[in-house]
Amino acid sequence: MRVLGLWNVSKQAQFAFKPTLISKHLNHTKAFVTTPIYYVNAVPHIGHLYSTVLADTIRRHYALHGKQVLMSTGTDEHGLKIQQAADKNNMKPIEFCDKVSESFKSLCEAADIGYTSFERTTNKHHILAVNELWDQLLKKGYLYKGKHEGWYAVSDEAFYTKNQVHEVVDEKSGEKVMVAIESGQRVEWTVEENYKFKLSAFGDRLLEWIDANPKSIVPNNRKNEVKSWINAGLADLSVSRLRSRLDWGIPVPNDPDHTIYVWLDALTNYLTATGYPWNKDSKNKDFFPPDVQVVGKDIVRFHAIYWPAFLMAAELPLPKQILAHAHWTMGKQKMSKSRGNVADPFQVLKDCGVDPVRYYLVRDGGLADDGDYSEDMIRTRYKKDLASQLGNLLNRSTAKTLLSDGIVPIKSDTLDDRDEFMHKEISETAENFDKAFEEREFSRAYTYIFDMLSHANKHFADNEPWNLAKKPEEKQRLNDVLFYSLEACRIAGILLQPVMPTKMDSLLTRLGVSENDRYFKNAKEFTKVERPLGEIDGVLFPRL
Ligand code: ME8
Ligand code: MG
Repeated sequence: MRVLGLWNVSKQAQFAFKPTLISKHLNHTKAFVTTPIYYVNAVPHIGHLYSTVLADTIRRHYALHGKQVLMSTGTDEHGLKIQQAADKNNMKPIEFCDKVSESFKSLCEAADIGYTSFERTTNKHHILAVNELWDQLLKKGYLYKGKHEGWYAVSDEAFYTKNQVHEVVDEKSGEKVMVAIESGQRVEWTVEENYKFKLSAFGDRLLEWIDANPKSIVPNNRKNEVKSWINAGLADLSVSRLRSRLDWGIPVPNDPDHTIYVWLDALTNYLTATGYPWNKDSKNKDFFPPDVQVVGKDIVRFHAIYWPAFLMAAELPLPKQILAHAHWTMGKQKMSKSRGNVADPFQVLKDCGVDPVRYYLVRDGGLADDGDYSEDMIRTRYKKDLASQLGNLLNRSTAKTLLSDGIVPIKSDTLDDRDEFMHKEISETAENFDKAFEEREFSRAYTYIFDMLSHANKHFADNEPWNLAKKPEEKQRLNDVLFYSLEACRIAGILLQPVMPTKMDSLLTRLGVSENDRYFKNAKEFTKVERPLGEIDGVLFPRL
């Protein structure tokens, strides 16, 4: 039986963390990657899939470097928005949450997401964590009771000041309504006494944190946006609602007339995922703070301002990076149900295959600027990159007519002029790829790999191995030519594992690369020992 590598996560192994399998490669450093926890008011769409695939790819990239990785995802289940959605469906809130939460879990399974914890805000251990964080904020003097007047958008579960809202004419009813400028969502005037968090005390410290850690918020356009919000001045934040207005939520400890604000509740999930409130048995405590928190640009304010402020107030360490990506549009328009331009993530995974969809999303997803989603583009990527470059090179360089003994050759000691370029390019690909990946320039990172593959295909064709194979005296030259093609495949295969785990497992198996030789460091060096090819069923990238 084949041993499972960290990135080949089977359904059974998905929830288990099995560092022992790769102990030889563990460098004992830890990493923690998170996705947002998604609202259960609606079923998952392609944008949710994108954030989750991106986080999973980053998780697997850390594992490629031999790190132990925690990855959390989950569902955000409290708040007015969910309460209203449950009512609309004539269901009890918890039953409604159970049902929709399950569909987010299924999406993870369908997309080969190897999360280590799936947090639901209705879980007992999460409620304990929220209580603890609340107590800490109170104890440290950052919560007080005060009258709150302002605009509230149920869709965003967010308060807005008068400068953040404006009047518009509703497209459907023709009525004049107030909406939040940032999100376009309807707001309503609310006056109530609730708990407030002294956010205003954190402006300077937040700016210091951002400036001292240039990678804390990426990409740069988002960082600048956050800085401008802070510079405009931070008002204290309402962190509870009256229970009479909202009872689907966690009660304020010792003051059950109030319900904890859904964002304070939701953000705590990243602590919950490490076993907070920690005790001496908490084995995942050291994973905190998160290394990378993937979020969409719509929720950057909550993650880059409120969340670090809560952590500072509770004297907890701050996240290393908030990776705030832009949005997928369709037909250059915001995806929305009413417009009918939403893509069903389950359908596309089924139609195009898990790995090709993962590759497309991470490669073409808009980081700084919105990207336009198109299934045609998934097929184009499949044909051009996966089938014509990678699949083709694998097929031709493992052909029986050329590699008759089925042994992957090693190259001769001297470097032929005709191989110089390929030799250099292959040697540099892993580092170039890794650097771009670390800089979160995913598209550029993959370009290094596919440029190398395209040159390798050309090198193969230029050297006409099929003619060399006819001449016994050219055996060594044939070996050298095949060596470079097979090395290009092997290195691409190793580096592409995080984004295409199943396909790259097949590719590396076909190349006879053992599980222990599939790490980043193996992609930085040339093969030095001959090895037999392995077997797989069918072609790697058949016609769609
Ligand atoms: O905001 N393109 O949940 P949510 C790319 N529960 N990504 C998209 C997207 C699009 N068109 N649409 C959604 C919430 N997303 C809160 C989060 S976290 C403590 C609480 C992704 O269901 C993106 O990551 O509205 C976005 O930030 C998230 O889904 C919003 O999901
Ligand atoms: Mg949303």
